[in-house]
Amino acid sequence: MKKIAPSILSADLARLADEVKDVIEAGADWIHVDVMDGHFVPNITIGPVVIKALKKAVSVPLDVHLMIENADLFLDAFIEAGADILTVQAEACTHLHRTVHAIKQRGVRAGVALNPATPLESLAYILPDVDLVMVMTVNPGFGGQEFILAMLPKIEQLKEIITKRKLTVEIEVDGGIKTANIGEVARCGGDIFVAGSGIFGTPNRKETIKKMRREIGS
Ligand code: DX5
Ligand code: ZN
Repeated sequence: MKKIAPSILSADLARLADEVKDVIEAGADWIHVDVMDGHFVPNITIGPVVIKALKKAVSVPLDVHLMIENADLFLDAFIEAGADILTVQAEACTHLHRTVHAIKQRGVRAGVALNPATPLESLAYILPDVDLVMVMTVNPGFGGQEFILAMLPKIEQLKEIITKRKLTVEIEVDGGIKTANIGEVARCGGDIFVAGSGIFGTPNRKETIKKMRREIGS
């Protein structure tokens, strides 16, 4: 089933629990949490402490996107805090195979994210091991950036590879998703749609998610 995952990066963080409850009530499937370290990306956000607090307030899976270096050192902390899905950036993991298996061994779903400039080929030997691939459709670091159109064929090609290899890997798409483009992203093969400003930044979130669902046929 296709899923919508609002990113809390664009929420009013002073009212985080209420904001998250609001989008869950509006129909969110997952809550997307962007973790940034100021090294891998030029921004710093939140860590395990906030995720642990969020976990208590939230009933849906927490989709944790690690945009950090040395992810291996922090996997346990994020898992103990309550991450249900843990996605690492391929570019930040020297021993990606080890990292993916370390996540799975702890009973958590593992994802690998690819920056816009990173080719799909880098996944050739890890694809059967992951639960999801996250195609970044902006350069990570900030919410509210414009969707990079050149990523549409990348999503299509990834879908083709997954189908050809008869895998069950899901495709998550992250960055610049709005009601206006989500339908096209779905037609290219997207399964899970992250939207920060495209949901939190709209006046009627329920209406926005409803429209998005209509567009993706879910
Ligand atoms: C980008 C983050 C995204 C971001 C999405 O670094 O990984 O999850 O919050 O925000 P929008 O939907 O506003 O592009
Ligand atoms: Zn993200």
